[in-house]
Amino acid sequence: MVNLFTMHLHDAGMEPEDVLRELSQRLAEDSSFQSAKILGCMCSAPDPLSASVFARFLEKNAGDPGLFPATRELEREVIALMGSLLAGERAEGSLVSGGTEANILALWAARRRAGRGRRQVILPESAHYSFDKAADLMDLELVKIPLDDRFQMDARLAAQALSPRSMAIVGVAGSTGLGAVDPIEELSRLAERHDLYLHVDAAFGGFVLPFLEEAGYPSRLFDFSLPGVSSITIDPHKMGRAPIPAGCLLFRDEGLARFAATSVSYLTGGEAEQRTLIGTRPGAAVAAVWAALHRLGRAGFVRVVREAMELTHWLAQEIGRIPGFAVVTEPVMNLIGLRSLDLGSRELASLLRERGWRVAVFEDFVRIAVMPHLSRTKLEPFLESLRAIAGQKGDVSSLALPSGRETAIMTPKGDGGTIGTKKDL
Ligand SMILES: Cc1ncc(COP(=O)(O)O)c(C=O)c1O
Repeated sequence: MVNLFTMHLHDAGMEPEDVLRELSQRLAEDSSFQSAKILGCMCSAPDPLSASVFARFLEKNAGDPGLFPATRELEREVIALMGSLLAGERAEGSLVSGGTEANILALWAARRRAGRGRRQVILPESAHYSFDKAADLMDLELVKIPLDDRFQMDARLAAQALSPRSMAIVGVAGSTGLGAVDPIEELSRLAERHDLYLHVDAAFGGFVLPFLEEAGYPSRLFDFSLPGVSSITIDPHKMGRAPIPAGCLLFRDEGLARFAATSVSYLTGGEAEQRTLIGTRPGAAVAAVWAALHRLGRAGFVRVVREAMELTHWLAQEIGRIPGFAVVTEPVMNLIGLRSLDLGSRELASLLRERGWRVAVFEDFVRIAVMPHLSRTKLEPFLESLRAIAGQKGDVSSLALPSGRETAIMTPKGDGGTIGTKKDL
């Protein structure tokens, strides 16, 4: 371990091979998708072509469209392609660094649309913590709506929570813990009736839901075919097979996209309008997403989703056979909530970690994201580990009912632990 306090720049600079050797050694300690021990992550090993395209176009800056007009054109195509997946023929938007930035950008646009005075956002308890960050940044009031027994936002309670201060509703299409899809149809009607901005967070589900039916599984309406939907987050670096960083915020149309616009005068390529929070952004990501979309095509994404769903259902079934363990709910996409009757989620995660497995920890369960780097052969040893843990804990055959919560363990740091002005119903 290096002593960070005494670190300084190498006097003469290192030889390239020494730099590479040291980096290879140092970074080998990280988890890798190739090892298939990463079970909790919503990202995966990217499509190989997409990854090599990223490396090839590193100098492109999508934040300076005058200097890189071809990259800008490519981005417009990528937006149109993702728009077409989400029934958004007129969709506009930008590639961003990920779901967090897309969600913050969406609420920024909603805030600008609403003007001063209205700053309340209605969202499900399962909403990603990026909305808490957005609330803190913009001094928004979050009203977190409890989930029903299918882990979806209760639309009736959402309607009751509306007030003259409300400016936006957020629905999640593929929740972070369990992949649950909120009743976006009902939320769309609410948004239309009350002239509210409706943002759909499909960071994970955006590349799953559009392919589920063709893959042989039920899907849900969540996209721009619903007239009340104003914007959608969809992340190519999750199920879109593109390398990190690649998130995307799509607006329904130009009129809404303009609420995210800022004009910048000093750019080398000439004055331009940016529709992102950040300025300089990787054009390499634009090219990489373009490559992934074109390489896979519709059939490729259907295959990715079908394989992931088959594996998910197989894994869920196998988990159900191990005494003392169960899945929280029938999977709706390739995410599984795994719970133990007699172990807390942190304890279970740490026992799995001792055996090399990395899962995501939520309050009542651990999440397994059944991503493309996994397979039955690679998951068999994981089931063995679960059996070994069950053996240590003794045979427990009945399980408590799911509680209806999908809560991330999140500890806000900073001003005494408050984020936004959360109001629990
Ligand atoms: C539903 C949802 N939205 C947003 C995000 C944030 O994405 P990112 O980590 O790419 O910022 C996540 C991440 O897991 C997510 O599950």
